[in-house]
Amino acid sequence: MRVVVVGKGGREHALAQKIKESNLLSELWVCPGNPGMAKAGINCAPVETAEAIEAFCLENNVSLVVIGPEALILSDLKARLEMQGIPCFAPTKNVAQLESSKLFCKNILHDADVPTAKVLVTHAIDEAMAAIEAHNFASPLVLKADGLAAGKGVWVCENKAQALEGLTNLTTQFGFPLLIEECLIGKELSAFALCDGKDFVILGTACDYKRITPDLFSANTGGMGAFSPCDFITQEDTETIHQIFVKTLNCLHEKNLSYQGFLFAGLMKTAKGLYVLEYNVRMGDPETQALVPRIQSDLLELISAATKHELAGKQCKLSEEVSVHVVAVSKGYPEAKMLLGAELNLPQTLNTQLYFAGVSEKDQKLVNSGGRVLGVTALASSKETARTQAYDDIQKIAYEGMYFRKDIGQ
Ligand SMILES: Nc1ncnc2c1ncn2[C@@H]1O[C@H](COP(=O)(O)OP(=O)(O)O)[C@@H](O)[C@H]1O
Ligand SMILES: [Mg+2]
Repeated sequence: MRVVVVGKGGREHALAQKIKESNLLSELWVCPGNPGMAKAGINCAPVETAEAIEAFCLENNVSLVVIGPEALILSDLKARLEMQGIPCFAPTKNVAQLESSKLFCKNILHDADVPTAKVLVTHAIDEAMAAIEAHNFASPLVLKADGLAAGKGVWVCENKAQALEGLTNLTTQFGFPLLIEECLIGKELSAFALCDGKDFVILGTACDYKRITPDLFSANTGGMGAFSPCDFITQEDTETIHQIFVKTLNCLHEKNLSYQGFLFAGLMKTAKGLYVLEYNVRMGDPETQALVPRIQSDLLELISAATKHELAGKQCKLSEEVSVHVVAVSKGYPEAKMLLGAELNLPQTLNTQLYFAGVSEKDQKLVNSGGRVLGVTALASSKETARTQAYDDIQKIAYEGMYFRKDIGQ
């Protein structure tokens, strides 16, 4: 098979690396990829727009495309490729509303009878104010903008003043509808499935670290690290996760919205069991870099089967080993003003898997050019050992202003 992976981050590096192991593969490109991946031996093609990717795939007789980032899943890329007869592993734009509209997602969860936080959907300031006034703040209140908000659309409010501030902030930026949710208390995890429109295989679970420091109130980032599998779920929870995917996918199917692609469930384990916080219509970044190295099945074979609706009866085999993935970022991240352009000093060899994200090339050297620069994943028999190995290795890498959290996997 001649395969294109679309995207340029650590997630796409991990996906491409795993797809490269497949016996079914004859050629692989990442579009556009990044110079770090290229140095690691992955073909990168400098095409980024839907139009340019379509032309590239036609010129190069590409037989399968896998889209990483949500922005391109929500573009017309899949429709373009399928018009040309090129299978594209991603959900259609229509069903991708599962991520791009929190209201759409809530309605599906409700219809599918999947546990989720109780919600009031408000359409005007008065209505939202009344809901805030009526809440006693014995527990927080969660305000959510409906559409894509790049991690800035959710406020977990401890008191009335905060909720009123959140209301103004969110409605000024994103307008209505505004979702007002009960606050769930528990621990968060993510679960991933690979879906063919009707059937699916579970890829596994992971936990990520969203804040820039261990302080719960520090700035939100794209993700500073992850480990896989989640270590606080029971066998019963694992079965519940399976049921959550079954119910959701069946409900979509019944609505003529069959779902093909990776499906990411954001879950909260509460005292009353597992609840779905949200769905994303793609793999997570950095959860992918923790989860995918544990996959022992042929990932390309599974993806290819999914595009032909042939997943029934298949499974994804995972290593028993535990992974820890640590992300290194640029100084200043997640603020817009960052220290960029510093040369990366990389050792000749590492014992872990190195994935590149925000890097570019200057005078044939790699320099940091984005917030999240790179990450390393260690696999070991225990999380503690994987953690030690990941930190041993990331400390062998250096660039000016390099920062990473010290508590991933603790
Ligand atoms: N109902 C809820 N109860 C408690 N925390 C929540 C709730 N909804 C969201 N959160 C918190 O806010 C974060 C972001 O919410 P999420 O729905 O995942 O939106 P997004 O990832 O699109 O910003 C979650 O990871 C979780 O920590
Ligand atoms: Mg989320």
